[in-house]
Amino acid sequence: MERTLVLIKPDALKRDLVGEVINRFERQGLRLVSIKMLRLNESEAMAFYAVHKGKPFFKELVDYMSSGPIVAMVLEGEGAIGRVREIMGATDPNEAKAGTIRGDLGINKTENTVHGSDSKESAALEISFFFSQYDLKKGER
Ligand code: RTP
Ligand code: MG
Repeated sequence: MERTLVLIKPDALKRDLVGEVINRFERQGLRLVSIKMLRLNESEAMAFYAVHKGKPFFKELVDYMSSGPIVAMVLEGEGAIGRVREIMGATDPNEAKAGTIRGDLGINKTENTVHGSDSKESAALEISFFFSQYDLKKGER
């Protein structure tokens, strides 16, 4: 059983799409382990996206991700990391297929509705950024 971190980004909360996004994962058999709503400040957003430091879109990404509340959640399932990425669709909503979250709901390449960890290593790191061992233990089924 694999776990991954998903963020529902500020554009989705502004449009009240939290339930819609979670439902798309649950319908595919991915199950919630833990969930919270919070707002990242600028330095927290910079820390979370440290791998993108120096890229041309870094400042825009940090400003956007700290512009309003987000929902962070841990999802669990067989092959969860790859399956979440498939359900999300391509980074740019204009390139994402219909039926994917970004293809159906994304606004543009920055305001693209969701984040999902891209490897086992980043999943472990990103889950620990938002959730304690205690949170994860409490969410066991
Ligand atoms: P994510 O990390 O959010 O799951 O998205 P991803 O793997 O598909 O894309 P990544 O390359 O990791 O980029 C992280 C986030 O940065 C913003 N971005 N903007 N304007 C641009 O050219 C650009 N490129 C990336 C997006 O919000 C992207 O999800
Ligand atoms: Mg990424």
